[in-house]
Amino acid sequence: MANEALRHTGLIGLAVMGENLALNIERNGFPLAVYNRTTARTEEFLAERAAGRNIIGESTIEAFVNAIERPRRIIIMVKAGAPVDAVLAELQPFLDRDDIVIDGGNSLFSDTARRSAEYQGAFRFVGMGISGGEEGALNGPSLMPGGPKEAYDILEPMLTAIAAKTEAGACVTHIGPGGAGHYVKMVHNGIEYADMQLIAETYDLLGRALGLTAPEIGEVFAGWNQGRLSSYLVEITAEVLATVDRETGNPLVDMILDTAEQKGTGRWTSQSALDLGSPIPAIDAAVFARSMSSRKAEREVAAEHLFGPGGAILATSANRQATIDALENALYFAKISAYAQGMALLQAASAEYDWELDLAEIARIWKGGCIIRAALLDPIREAYGSDPGLANLMLAPFFSEAMNANAPAIRQAVATAVQMGIPVPALSASLTYVDTWRSPRLPANLLQALRDNFGAHTYRRIDREGVFHTHWATGETELVG
Ligand code: 6PG
Repeated sequence: MANEALRHTGLIGLAVMGENLALNIERNGFPLAVYNRTTARTEEFLAERAAGRNIIGESTIEAFVNAIERPRRIIIMVKAGAPVDAVLAELQPFLDRDDIVIDGGNSLFSDTARRSAEYQGAFRFVGMGISGGEEGALNGPSLMPGGPKEAYDILEPMLTAIAAKTEAGACVTHIGPGGAGHYVKMVHNGIEYADMQLIAETYDLLGRALGLTAPEIGEVFAGWNQGRLSSYLVEITAEVLATVDRETGNPLVDMILDTAEQKGTGRWTSQSALDLGSPIPAIDAAVFARSMSSRKAEREVAAEHLFGPGGAILATSANRQATIDALENALYFAKISAYAQGMALLQAASAEYDWELDLAEIARIWKGGCIIRAALLDPIREAYGSDPGLANLMLAPFFSEAMNANAPAIRQAVATAVQMGIPVPALSASLTYVDTWRSPRLPANLLQALRDNFGAHTYRRIDREGVFHTHWATGETELVG
C-alpha cells in the first residue's frame, strides 16, 4: 500500500476519533500514514473517507514505522488501558530514541507517567488529552499535550495547525511533563461532568417545579446561551430539548431512558481529588448522580416506599419569568463554583507533581474546540493571568462579586428543590463548597474534641500554641507537644 515519499506523521487506530483526526491532519497539509490492527478497517478508510487524500495505509507496524520521516511523529488513537500498552510494546523495536509517540486517548495520567518512565531512552512519549468529540477531532479540537518540552516543540507546528482557533490563538499549549496533559484532560472531563449535571438539575427544576415542557425549557436555554452562560453545553442543551422524536412526535429527550453511563474520567477526577485532599464536591456529586441514575430498578422500588412532599407547580404566569431569571443566576453561581473546584484541583496537582501548570493558558486552550468551552473561560483566564498564584478563583474580584450577587438565587433554588423533594446534588454541592470556603470557623473543633475523646488523638487551641490532650471524664488537660 505504501508509496515512495516518507510521511510527516503516522496515526494508529482508526475508530471514529482516529479517522477524524487523520483527516484533520491531512487537510492541514501533513501527509499521513495510518495503521489499524484490522487491515480491513484501514482499507475501508482509504477507499472511502480518505479517498483522494494524501494518506497511505500499511498492514504491518514495521512498514508503517518505516513510512514515516524522522524524527517520527506517531499518534496512537486506541482505547485507554491495555490497548495503549500493547501498541507501545509493538512499536518499540522499530523506533529510535528521538522518535515521538503521542497517546491521544483518555488515558489515566498515572499510566502516562508510568509509560513515560518505562520508555525513557527508547522514544519520546507524549500523553495528549484531546477534547471535542468526533466533530472536534475533524475540525479542530482542544489539545492538551504533556511530556518532554523538546518533543512538543517538534510537534508544535502540526498541533497548532489542527487545533481549534479562537481570537486568543490555537487551542494547544505545552501543559507540562509526564502525565500533566492527561491530568488536565481528566479535570476537563470532571468539570464537564459537573457542568452537565448542573444543566440537568436546572432542566429538572424548570420542568418539575415550573411545569415547563421540554421545548419550552429548550427556549430558556437558547436564551441563556446568548448571555454570560454562553457555552457549547448550553447550546447543545437547547438543541437537544427542541428535538422531536420522529416515531412518537414527543420531545425526544422525554423518550430517553434516565440512566447515565460513564467511561471513568469523572470518577478518576474524584479519586485524584481524594488523594490530594482537594475538594471538588460538585464533580463528586455529578459522578454519583450518574451512579444513582443507573440504579433505575432500585429507584422504582424505592419510589413505592419512600415518599416526598410532592407539591404543586411553583410559579404562576406572573412570576414565571422572574423564577426563570433566578434559575439563570443560580446556574451561573454553580458553574463558577464547579470551575473553581476544578481549577483548585489543578493547582493542587501542579504543586504535588511539580508540573508548574499555567492556569491562564489552560483556560485559554479550553476556549475553543473542547466540550466545556464557554464564555466564562475569558474571565477565568484573566483572573489567573493577573494573579497566577490566586488561592481560589472565587477570590478574584470579578468572581467574588458574581458569587455575592448570585448567592441569594442559588439559595432559593436549592431551598425550593429541597422543599419539593427534587434532588439537586450538584447545585447544592456547589453552594455548600462556597459556604464552607467562606466560613472562618467550622464545626471541626467538635471533630477534634471527639477524636481526642475516643482515641487521644490530641487537638490544638485557638488561644495558645501547643498540642493538647484532655481526660474528658474529668476535664483535666495536659500539654503533650
Ligand atoms: C471530550 C469528552 C470525551 C468523553 C466523553 C464521554 O472532551 O471530547 O470529554 O473525552 O469521552 O465526554 O465521557 P463519559 O462517557 O465518561 O461521559
